[in-house]
Amino acid sequence: MTKHTEQVHGGHGHHGQTHGHGHAAHGHGPDAGDFDWDVMGPMLEQNAELGLGQYGEAARWVAGLPAAREVRRVLDVGSGPGVITCLLAEVFPEAEVIAVDGTPALLERARARAERLGLGDRVRTIHAELPQDLGKLVEADLIWAGNSLHHMGDQRGVLAGFAGLLRPGGAVALVEGGLPTRQLPRDIGIGGAGLEARIDAASADWFADMRAALPDARQETEDWNALFCAVGLKPQGTRSFLLDLPAPLSTLAREHVVETFARQREVLADRLSEEDLAVIDRLLDPADPAGLHRRDDVFVLSARTVQVAARG
Ligand SMILES: C[S@@+](CC[C@H](N)C(=O)[O-])C[C@H]1O[C@@H](n2cnc3c(N)ncnc32)[C@H](O)[C@@H]1O
Repeated sequence: MTKHTEQVHGGHGHHGQTHGHGHAAHGHGPDAGDFDWDVMGPMLEQNAELGLGQYGEAARWVAGLPAAREVRRVLDVGSGPGVITCLLAEVFPEAEVIAVDGTPALLERARARAERLGLGDRVRTIHAELPQDLGKLVEADLIWAGNSLHHMGDQRGVLAGFAGLLRPGGAVALVEGGLPTRQLPRDIGIGGAGLEARIDAASADWFADMRAALPDARQETEDWNALFCAVGLKPQGTRSFLLDLPAPLSTLAREHVVETFARQREVLADRLSEEDLAVIDRLLDPADPAGLHRRDDVFVLSARTVQVAARG
């Protein structure tokens, strides 16, 4: 598979956030930003599980659109470990759902999860690295690409490929954009206020480098409706969905926040000031009363945007 980097943040996301959905890249990618998708399985799975409410709402919104009336086959492109694949199988009970990904180890996780949830008869997988393996994909009524298109160098080329795979009346749903995740108050009592805003700025730089290093990287203005139109698709609507976990967090959610900061510490080390790095070190120290393990004001608030288009 090819290598990619993902946001360093704990979720998926984009907007240059180093979202936690970390990913893997072996090979190329910006200096500090490479992930190995192979080893990101547990973290990707945990992140997606945390966002199940948000994604459930998003998938049900898509299911209610006229463009998604008769859905018999769904492609979940860049499925990762299949948390959303299985969710899609639940939201579209008449459909076969195919997880498509460039990382075989993640597809294995997707298959195992589907079996565990009793969805094994309707979930299958295709190993494909896009755009070069577009020919391995099959036609579909819904193509869902969650936090994955931005890992592909030629996003327009991939979208054009999707347009060619849609059955009459079919739709594409992209999860791209939204808002940077917030996990701490603006002023946390240590270091300069606004740490997460500075992390966002560093992540945006990192994200630009990550994209520039992708194979066949092509710069695109992230106007998804314009891109849909450029490949012959008709925009059907855009909506954003919140993940809103207020303080105090569950143990699982707190672990996710710790992982997110740990990843940011690693990936953004060259892009943050010494002062901010020292604050992040304190946040990551389990023994520090001001750290993420012990403070009471940690939360998770994020917004993911879903853009839908139909075959023209
Ligand atoms: C951030 S994860 C998203 C996982 C899942 N869709 C979600 O929203 O939770 C991105 C996924 O896209 C896959 N991916 C990245 N670039 C790819 C490419 N060029 N072709 C196929 N899959 C790719 C990665 O292996 C990873 O599983």
